[in-house]
Amino acid sequence: MSDSSPSEEPKRGDFASKKGEVILRKHEYDGIQEFDQKLPNWWLFTFYFAIAWFVIYWVLYYHTGTYRTDQQKITSRLEQIEDDKSAALASTLANLDNETLINQWATDPEKVAAGEAIFTTNCVACHAADLSATMAVGDQKIPLPGRPLDDGVWEYGSEPLDIFKLINEGTPADAAGYNGARMQAWGQMLSPEQIADVTSFIISKNRKEFGL
Ligand code: HEC
Repeated sequence: MSDSSPSEEPKRGDFASKKGEVILRKHEYDGIQEFDQKLPNWWLFTFYFAIAWFVIYWVLYYHTGTYRTDQQKITSRLEQIEDDKSAALASTLANLDNETLINQWATDPEKVAAGEAIFTTNCVACHAADLSATMAVGDQKIPLPGRPLDDGVWEYGSEPLDIFKLINEGTPADAAGYNGARMQAWGQMLSPEQIADVTSFIISKNRKEFGL
């Protein structure tokens, strides 16, 4: 756009002051020089508008609380989910005690079948379908990562509600686990009712121990 031909030296100055004018700025460092031209109005408008928009946005979202940021929405949704989960746990536990788990749930074929389905999907990889926590390879029995659930030994309490709690919360924070392996908190994946179902299934597989 400049009318200076390549052979002509551009004008020296501080800044371009007219549209279309090309200025070669006065400074020079290590032989590096800098041109200057006036920026087009559409560009300047976008630039100043973006600055004004930032101020409006910042005030509305971060100072007046008129709008909530995505982060705040996610945080409050997560809190809501946590609250719903503890409410579900409280209401399941309100109707559940050791007696009920043994004499009503573990003897109810529907609940035991539901528990078995959950066990087959989520638990057999470490505890085995027969609860022995071993896998037969040829005539050898290879141990799986989980503890056996059919040996009458319960590391974290033998009452049905102790077992429920362990499945729900996983290996306690201060426990060492089993051969260095810890179990995850299944409450992250399963509902309290599903955990009660799977606990009933485990009880139903230990009939003698629970007096069934
Ligand atoms: C990835 C492997 C893995 C899976 C899958 C797994 N567990 Fe475990 N489970 C373990 C380990 C390891 C332990 C021992 C943890 C410890 O001692 O702290 C354990 C311990 C237990 C215990 C305590 C046993 C005892 O003798 O005290 C119960 C009950 C149990 N699991 C139930 C379940 C149920 C129900 C599921 C499925 C919902 C499940 N586990 C899925 C690895 C697993």
